[in-house]
Amino acid sequence: MSVAEKLAAPAAPRLLGGLRRDGRAVPLAAHVERYGPLPLELRAAELLDRVARSGLTGRGGAGFPTATKLESVLRRGTRPIVVANGTEGEPPSGKDKALLAYAPHLVIDGAVLAARAVNAKKVIVATTSIVHAAVARAISERPREAGIAVRTLVVPDRFVAGEETALIQFLNGGPAAPTLTPPRPYERGVGGAPTVVLNVETLAHLALIARYGATWFREAGTPDEPGSVLVTVSGAVRDPGVYEVELGSPFAQLLADAGADGQAQAYLVGGYFGTWVKATDAHGAAVSNVDLAHFGASLGARAIIVLPPDACGVVETARVARYLAEESAGQCGPCVHGLAAIADSLEQLADGLHTADTALLRRRLAQVANRGACRHPDGAVALVASALRVFSDEVDRHLRGRRCTGHGRPVLPIP
Ligand SMILES: Cc1cc2nc3c(=O)[nH]c(=O)nc-3n(C[C@H](O)[C@H](O)[C@H](O)COP(=O)(O)O)c2cc1C
Ligand code: SF4
Repeated sequence: MSVAEKLAAPAAPRLLGGLRRDGRAVPLAAHVERYGPLPLELRAAELLDRVARSGLTGRGGAGFPTATKLESVLRRGTRPIVVANGTEGEPPSGKDKALLAYAPHLVIDGAVLAARAVNAKKVIVATTSIVHAAVARAISERPREAGIAVRTLVVPDRFVAGEETALIQFLNGGPAAPTLTPPRPYERGVGGAPTVVLNVETLAHLALIARYGATWFREAGTPDEPGSVLVTVSGAVRDPGVYEVELGSPFAQLLADAGADGQAQAYLVGGYFGTWVKATDAHGAAVSNVDLAHFGASLGARAIIVLPPDACGVVETARVARYLAEESAGQCGPCVHGLAAIADSLEQLADGLHTADTALLRRRLAQVANRGACRHPDGAVALVASALRVFSDEVDRHLRGRRCTGHGRPVLPIP
């Protein structure tokens, strides 16, 4: 059976299927044995065409079509740069770290092929300190392919450092804080060159699409949302970790695989820019943006946290709101002051203080939305607004100064 045939079964894990059982990175020889050599014979136009027909969308949060991003730097006419975004500042997410630690060659393959598609000669793999050694080792194992230089560097472990303009400013020698746009990265990025920033999972999928084609990619997922996706599941589950699932597969199946006991009161879907969804609502849902939109949610950073029945959603959200306020890059007034004020309001509510005022909190949410240079405040606002909706009974209890029903042990991770 050829490698392509082995991978052709749509239900087979695509990105995680080749991992070693001892938890160490797959070395180059084993990687090539499973996936075959880099298809460097593909011309740039063919590569782009495959990516476009596959319908691959970004796995870094916003879900933008990857082919459109590649074409936008190609159109600039100057030699572009490819940045693989492996910063993963989202505390409940581990999917990008897992990929870089265990399957770094898949990501590097994707980055080299993306560089080929846009005629770039430089690739930068941006990582955090925890996986940097694995990535550097993988780069050193490889010959220089198609004249493309690949290097890696460590980015500060902060929530906003992975925002693409923050990443570019850092790569240009500045702080890892978002910058005002325009210019967008595809216009002027690293060293002034047009730059395409792609999430490391997006690149791993691209590496397989280049080898096995668009039709193969579409054998998994739905026509609107093709392929598979890495999801980090944590909270009240027996087996927290990174799971690869087909888009459109049952949400309940993913939770069962992770060992949820069916007692959850709610799920935080999409990480800390995500949305709380009541457990009863999510039960028949699918792992897809189209389906989750019925509950005002999206896959976002692909992190799902299961909230047990004896935890308090108001207290948990207040802790995350404070964390997000402290992670503001400190440059836009509405973000700096607004997020801090929202965290103050939510903490007063969580503590059951008589000063708690949900009308004021809602006004503050409205004042901050859409007012930052980047999406950081919008993500925080969406999270808090969903908590007020989903935990409305608990909000009432707190407003009436009744005892909080939570057990007090934190569920959502804060670094
Ligand atoms: C505050 C903030 C933090 C972000 N952090 C990350 C991150 O850690 N990793 C990532 O890939 N994208 C992150 N993004 C999204 C990036 O700006 C960018 O859209 C993404 O890397 C593009 O890759 P994709 O098209 O493959 O999804 C963040 C965005 C915002 C607003
Ligand atoms: S909105 Fe917040 S995180 Fe984004 S650039 Fe402004 S201050 Fe920084």
